[in-house]
Amino acid sequence: MEPDKTTKLQIDSGVEMNTILVQGNAAQVATELLAVVVVDAGEKDKPNPQVLSSDQSVQAAAKDLLAGCEVTGRVGETTLLHRPQGLAAKRLLLVGAGKVESFSTVELRKAAGTALRFLKPKSIKSFAFAVPETSGGAGGAVRAVIEGAFVGNFDPDVYKSDRKDQRVEEITVIVASGDKGILDSAVKEGRVIGESQNFTRTLVNEPSNRMTPTILADRAQKMAEEVGLKCEVYGAEKIKSMKMGAFWSVAQGSDEPPALIVLTYEPQGAPPKPVLGLVGKGITFDSGGISIKPSDGMEKMKYDMAGGATMLGVMRAIALLKPKIKVIAIVLATENMPSGKAQKPGDVQIAMSGKSIEIINTDAEGRLVLADGLHYARQLGATHLVDAATLTGAIVVALGYANAGVFANDDAWFEQFHQALKRSGEKMWRMPLDPEYQEMIRSNIADIMNTGGRWGGAITAAMFLKEFVEDTPWLHLDIAGTAWMEDNKPWIAKGPSGIAVRSLIELAREVANGASGSATGTQAAQNRANSGAGL
Ligand code: BES
Ligand code: MN
Ligand code: ZN
Repeated sequence: MEPDKTTKLQIDSGVEMNTILVQGNAAQVATELLAVVVVDAGEKDKPNPQVLSSDQSVQAAAKDLLAGCEVTGRVGETTLLHRPQGLAAKRLLLVGAGKVESFSTVELRKAAGTALRFLKPKSIKSFAFAVPETSGGAGGAVRAVIEGAFVGNFDPDVYKSDRKDQRVEEITVIVASGDKGILDSAVKEGRVIGESQNFTRTLVNEPSNRMTPTILADRAQKMAEEVGLKCEVYGAEKIKSMKMGAFWSVAQGSDEPPALIVLTYEPQGAPPKPVLGLVGKGITFDSGGISIKPSDGMEKMKYDMAGGATMLGVMRAIALLKPKIKVIAIVLATENMPSGKAQKPGDVQIAMSGKSIEIINTDAEGRLVLADGLHYARQLGATHLVDAATLTGAIVVALGYANAGVFANDDAWFEQFHQALKRSGEKMWRMPLDPEYQEMIRSNIADIMNTGGRWGGAITAAMFLKEFVEDTPWLHLDIAGTAWMEDNKPWIAKGPSGIAVRSLIELAREVANGASGSATGTQAAQNRANSGAGL
């Protein structure tokens, strides 16, 4: 079968990989390595590993290994067997995917990434993955495997001078049965989504000297041309003339010119409403400004543009997957620097909406740029808003590294996103936005202050943003703890994670399909928010 080249793009897709779809018998596929999924069907302390394959030859080849005690089926576990009997493959890799009862496409995605990352350092360039028959249907399973493989193929070590190209060049997905058309488009969609997540990771990975606001805007423009999106980039003069006083107050302190990036996707036949507005924080370096950060760990603040990069990745996927809905993305790109021109604590700024802001801490800059971005998105006609931002250290205190924080002013809109989270497998936890918190950002001299004191810092930051969305349904994703991973996982490299890209792609498609979220009680929605199983 010919590898699928239809959606292969040359620039910025992170890693290239051919995809081949085979319908038939896993035992007969000649390959360097055949990966199969193993789940644990046992009781508490007694693992009972089982291979998820209806292929009798595969079962027979794995039988002796499973009879011993070295395979448990735990998530991330890999066991290699050379020259498996009765199979055309040179090697058989058993990939653990956890308990049988919790197995879903979320674990399957990880298993595919785990298999790929097992063979990557061994310079095995191609492999086959036997897709288990899941209740969710073969299409969803194939898509998850392709997504997981592309995400697994990314490594951040791009500036090592002795870097070897160890990427896996080809994956064959083997499916026992299913409709060819559905499976083919599942492969294409999986590729688009995995590549778009890697596109975001590629941008976030760059240090601030190689990812200035101008460079970020250039990358957005190049991507937009490639996939057929409208892209406008505005500089300092336009930002000032549009009276984006909150955005400019951050940008004024840097020698690097800011960029306001506006991407528009409007497919033929899209209804006039809803219009999805995506707003991303694009601080290419956050020194803190005059309220300067301690030097310990400051190098991490190159990833403070992750929210903006997220929206660029989402737009890339939307342009290629073509859901029937209008989407606008706004990225506010600037550095936050101290200088003689920088804003100072105590300054009062007037946002584009007309609201006055007393600057208490110049390090609370993300909410300032987003304030004008959210207002502008509404002005451009967005009926539903989502912002993504590495906004607060406080969200890391609250939720650690496992969950991103979600804030919502509308239960139905949150519920719709919650469905998207279940499909993407990304973990996020809903946080409160009660009116009580509003008092904490009240100012004596202006309408609001840009910080809310010591407690509940992620919430007061979200309350600040809420001032600028009025009654438009809005979601705020605080990804400060999740956009950069400090440790490797078996299925994904440490470094930029690309968190939220997959969920927002799901959300856009869901809204386009008219899937309506039902308004539910906040508590019930919160309980169910703990779904999925991480990246
Ligand atoms: N970009 C930071 C938040 C951040 C912290 C991102 C850790 C990633 C990892 C943000 O601009 C910031 O500095 N927030 C301040 C707000 C404070 C001054 C109210 C913070 O969280 O300390
Ligand atoms: Mn800051
Ligand atoms: Zn910041």
